[in-house]
Amino acid sequence: MAKEVIIEEMPDLKKASRRNRRPTEFVLDEMVIPTQLKLLANGKKFFIRTYGCQANVLDSQNLEGILLEIGYVSCDDPLEADIVILNTCAIRENAEDKVFGEIGSLKQLKNKNKDSLICICGCMSQQPHIVEKIRKTYPQVDIIFGTHNINHLPQLIQKALETNSRIIEVYSKEGEVIEHIPCYRQDRFKAFVNIMFGCDKFCTYCIVPYTRGKQRSRKMEDILFECKNLVEEGYQEITLIGQNVNAYAKDLDLGYDFATLLVEVAKLGIPRLRFTTSHPWDFTEGMFKAMATYKNIMPAIHLPLQSGSDDVLRRMGRRYTSKEYMALVDKLREIVPNVAITTDIIVGFPNETDQDFEDTLNVVRYVKYDSAFTFIYSPRVGTPGANMKDEVSMETKHERFNRLVDTLAVDIKAKADAYIGKIVPVLVEGCSKKNTTRLTGYTDTLKLVNFVGNPEHVGKIVKVKINEAHTYSLIGEEVDE
Ligand code: 5AD
Ligand code: SF4
Repeated sequence: MAKEVIIEEMPDLKKASRRNRRPTEFVLDEMVIPTQLKLLANGKKFFIRTYGCQANVLDSQNLEGILLEIGYVSCDDPLEADIVILNTCAIRENAEDKVFGEIGSLKQLKNKNKDSLICICGCMSQQPHIVEKIRKTYPQVDIIFGTHNINHLPQLIQKALETNSRIIEVYSKEGEVIEHIPCYRQDRFKAFVNIMFGCDKFCTYCIVPYTRGKQRSRKMEDILFECKNLVEEGYQEITLIGQNVNAYAKDLDLGYDFATLLVEVAKLGIPRLRFTTSHPWDFTEGMFKAMATYKNIMPAIHLPLQSGSDDVLRRMGRRYTSKEYMALVDKLREIVPNVAITTDIIVGFPNETDQDFEDTLNVVRYVKYDSAFTFIYSPRVGTPGANMKDEVSMETKHERFNRLVDTLAVDIKAKADAYIGKIVPVLVEGCSKKNTTRLTGYTDTLKLVNFVGNPEHVGKIVKVKINEAHTYSLIGEEVDE
């Protein structure tokens, strides 16, 4: 017999978009797990699969922290687990398709262990049409919860087990900042730290402002407390994350901004400090100066361009022109000369003309990026872009996409070639299981390096001589100081 569905709250994209754009009162809450829930799982196994961006990676670390606190232990095989959580991404259709594929194959888990729980969370859960589809088509899914409901996970699990029902709890509120959510980081030397949540930019192609709520920043003292602990635990690298880190604290009005935060975290002495993602609109010279002054702030910036056409940028709601973007790059390179610049570019935004696309290629040739993520536009239900007429064929979009990738590759390869013969600092991430002297890591400029070295140096920053360069990786050997 089909299980009953308990709907605590359904997602509502309209409600998510109608929020107040002015700074709201700061709502801070703390997560406390009631003692009686700490024995909920008693050694049962969990498996989490994470799709999408850093925000999801960090949310999964919080989910893992919560599950460990209520007595679950981790396992590597979803079909062995008592609870499987898919933390999903809604940024493009192909991201969603992958998740539907995985939900389908998890039917096997139910056949094997009928008491197991399958949970869907993350950005897909925030969309009403997706929740409806899962509810109707995938009866194996037990719990659907949203990006604002992570701290309710223990109670949701308890309810699903006690009532043997399916539960949907997806808030579409503006969002709050919840401190003290347990966090488990498997990685012992690299950590993401949230500095803010949500996004208020409402670029017309993007679903994120609807799925992740209003922009809200954590207080600097809470961030510094977390970073200080990481430094004391021996972490080598912290990446401050948010959809728009350079707009940090604009919603707080407490007399500090992102440049202040960068400096304060750098002063804690973490060997490598990074941040992502930046929007070209909210940059201040203070940020660039902080990068130039503190050698532990890594010389790498991710600066999404999206398009080089002023008309497309205007229709995307990006709030800058290509000229302003290029001026920003010039200023950045003037203050931080060795900076590596990476980007995101979308091709095939509705009615993008040949000339619009050529304008994008021109900006690409001007900036000479170190690396780039490229996407074909994917209409997202509920965004303004999804209602725009589009006469451009998929074939043209694919042709443009390939030309863009080829154009980017010219400078990416030239930048990689410039490393040949140089000795660069690399944070060693791991070694091959088959041959432990084959190590991998990243330079300060975030270039992937494969090299021969000492496996005992995993987790340390070592010097590597670069002997060879591919477009997306460098090859080298570890050298003594
Ligand atoms: N279609 C294609 N790409 C998108 N991105 C965001 N929304 C869409 C969409 N609807 C890209 C942007 C963003 C990156 C994370 O994903 O380039 O910077
Ligand atoms: Fe999406 Fe634009 Fe916000 Fe980035 S800045 S998350 S692209 S709305």
